[in-house]
Amino acid sequence: MKLPNLANARKRTKNPVEVITDNYKLTNDMKKLGLNRAYYIKTYGCQMNEHDTEKIKAILEDMNFYEVDKMEEADLILLNTCAIRENAHNKVFGMIGRIKHLKESKPHLIAGICGCMAQEEVVVDEILTKYKWLDIVFGTHNIHNLPNILATSLAKKELEIEVLSVEGDVYENIPVKRDNLYKAWINVMYGCDKFCTYCIVPYTRGKQRSRQPEFIVEEVQTLVNEGYQEITLLGQNVNAYGKDLDIDYRMENLLEDVAKTGINRIRFVTSHPWDFTDKMIEVIKNNDNIMPYIHLPIQSGSNKILKLMGRRYTKESYFELYNKIKDAIPNVSITTDIIVGFPGETEEDFNETLDIVNKCQFDSAFTFIFSKRVGTPAAKMTDNVSLETKNKRLQELNKLVNKYSNLANQKYLNKTVPVLLEGFSEKNKKTLFGYTDTMKLVNVEADESNIGKIVDVKITEVKTWSLDGKICE
Ligand code: 5AD
Ligand code: SF4
Repeated sequence: MKLPNLANARKRTKNPVEVITDNYKLTNDMKKLGLNRAYYIKTYGCQMNEHDTEKIKAILEDMNFYEVDKMEEADLILLNTCAIRENAHNKVFGMIGRIKHLKESKPHLIAGICGCMAQEEVVVDEILTKYKWLDIVFGTHNIHNLPNILATSLAKKELEIEVLSVEGDVYENIPVKRDNLYKAWINVMYGCDKFCTYCIVPYTRGKQRSRQPEFIVEEVQTLVNEGYQEITLLGQNVNAYGKDLDIDYRMENLLEDVAKTGINRIRFVTSHPWDFTDKMIEVIKNNDNIMPYIHLPIQSGSNKILKLMGRRYTKESYFELYNKIKDAIPNVSITTDIIVGFPGETEEDFNETLDIVNKCQFDSAFTFIFSKRVGTPAAKMTDNVSLETKNKRLQELNKLVNKYSNLANQKYLNKTVPVLLEGFSEKNKKTLFGYTDTMKLVNVEADESNIGKIVDVKITEVKTWSLDGKICE
């Protein structure tokens, strides 16, 4: 049993990061553990978690578990959790209640939680007092050890918790079962050292650790050879890529090298305005296979709040960067994240957020009400904004954000744009769906044989959240 520890999770040392290439081995006994057992895994949160789930699936299938898409049919249920806001947290505890029900009628059921919530001391304390009937809990640093954790729990017939509150290493040998045949996630870095005052991520995911470029480029090359069309380079703060390596190699160098593999589409998330260099803008501009789409969280339009958030930029410097990107990259789409109701946010501060949204006219924005995360500096700040005010502000902001999403989409009417078609649209099985280079969702009248291809689509109708179009023959 290894339990999380908040004080350790906060530590940052200069200790070198170990790159592990030979750690993932399964014994014959482990390979038998999954025989005739079905697994179901539910993922909450960001793309990083989605990709971790792809790794967990590969490990489980190496142990001979098979996947089912109904929780009720599973012999092993895992929840890969997100800790970023309280509502994600509540959803998971709601789900744990449902699993308890299932376990009562199916005693052999193995149930566990992993991911960011497992890294939280408060969550594991709660599990130890109220949910001891769970079988496994493991953290973001322990994925490679899942076979051992499962084997231990099954042998002892009791809850096995393995959560390390460490800065973390880089595991290069974990297998992955990709969910999509055309688009793939690729980790370029793990963890985060920015410590924005509201954010739990630096505690749940550890120190910033960039992968060595050769491993990343090799992974992309393999995907090109397998026929993948698009990759998304993943990190909490991808622009800081390379800063922790002992070579002079940064995100702009990585983007250039990845572009040279010839993959058709390259995306990257998430960018922090602080590390977005002019060189990066140049590289994006000069490489046709780097997509003109940038997610650039602003969080607030008030300098006072940005300072309290520890964001290291002002609304003026953000706007300057925003314009630089818009001017340099034709047709670029920029999206953002915004938090309302941060402790101390006055009506005036909120109006400054509305003001910057009016100035930037984002293609779209993810908007959130501030959520107190235990252990973060913002959790200790006096939260003097009432829930009613927070809700009111969120609604007002959403109205404005939607207005600009619609406006941005209107520009596409009657234009012909490249779309990577991914599959049948959920709402209408006769149409296909896909995304433009600028990350707009498009529903397309097209033949099934176009799935997996990047095709030219003429936009015939514009909605706030999506576009409709016809394939150009
Ligand atoms: N409360 C509300 N929103 C948050 N985010 C991160 N932490 C919090 C929090 N404590 C938002 C930020 C970030 C996005 C991924 O989630 O806007 O960019
Ligand atoms: Fe959280 Fe800030 Fe790191 Fe993003 S950059 S993961 S918001 S601490």
